[in-house]
Amino acid sequence: MEKVLELINEDLQKVEEKFENRLSSRVPLITKVAKHLVMGGGKRFRPSLLLLSARLCGYRGEDHISLAGVVEFIHTATLLHDDVIDNAEVRRGSASANTLWGNEASVLVGDFLFSRSFAMMVEVGDLKILQTLASATTALAEGETMELVKTADLSITEEENMELIINKTAILISAAARIGAILGKAPLEVEEALANYGLQVGIAFQLVDDCLDYIGERETLGKEIGSDLKEGKITLPLIHTLRQCTAYEKKEIQEVVLGDEFSYDGLRKVLSFIDRYKGIEYTFAKAQRCIDEGKKSLWTLPPSPEREALFEMADYVVKRKV
Ligand code: IPE
Ligand code: IPE
Ligand code: MG
Ligand code: MG
Repeated sequence: MEKVLELINEDLQKVEEKFENRLSSRVPLITKVAKHLVMGGGKRFRPSLLLLSARLCGYRGEDHISLAGVVEFIHTATLLHDDVIDNAEVRRGSASANTLWGNEASVLVGDFLFSRSFAMMVEVGDLKILQTLASATTALAEGETMELVKTADLSITEEENMELIINKTAILISAAARIGAILGKAPLEVEEALANYGLQVGIAFQLVDDCLDYIGERETLGKEIGSDLKEGKITLPLIHTLRQCTAYEKKEIQEVVLGDEFSYDGLRKVLSFIDRYKGIEYTFAKAQRCIDEGKKSLWTLPPSPEREALFEMADYVVKRKV
């Protein structure tokens, strides 16, 4: 990611300072929990996209720093809530907030981060950006709820999974890219090109996340492996497998998904079926098609170091181990 960092390193530094300034609350528990997660690492993928997109569109002000902070705060708020929903014990390589401080504190501090992000976007005061972020957060809540409704439902289709992924993950990533264009007062075609790039890259991002949940390394990833299966989240590697396996194999998968006690033997068994029917390869191939599609949206823009960096970010999504 050298090209990316070369261009936005300084801005990213300022975004980190912004976090430090905007995390404080008069309630010490809020500051403690929020700092634990925000300062606890994270790839800063969404803020990086926003900064690059703003640069690409020739933006010269300072609001991109606040808005990069906003998208990361929104993302972090959803992670706090998501870890409660998913009973996750590890996040960003450390014990999750719900493990350390409980579900109640995680939900409330997630709300705090949401509210703080609203305050920050209102300070910028651009109505179109506010609209973009309002739709993104609505979509996010809808996507997470769609997933909840489909928990342990082995009949979930690839199309339903796609709709859920678009809403819970891709729309916020798309919003990050679009906001850069709005800041830079780019023509509508350029804004749409960047938004579509973000959408496609965002879909791929979640598809890869769903593969890494099966084949990733816990230490590198900083999250538990096998947690989707444990929580009954039927993601594309398994959906593809379920479409092709025998009735007997499906019954075996069902037993693992519906069983009271999650076991590594169960996970291994499901993984062997995913392996047999090439569920991981299928999902990666789909992610790669989204990446190609996303990059294609940017072809109409004139070549620039920023465009190269956005290509690099897209490629990173399918190569990443973190
Ligand atoms: C995790 O997002 C949640 C998903 C949408 C898959 P990231 O993989 O961007 O998490 P951090 O911010 O780097 O921790
Ligand atoms: C992504 O969902 C989280 C949000 C978009 C809110 P996941 O539950 O798949 O993400 P991880 O694996 O916990 O990071
Ligand atoms: Mg989760
Ligand atoms: Mg989740």
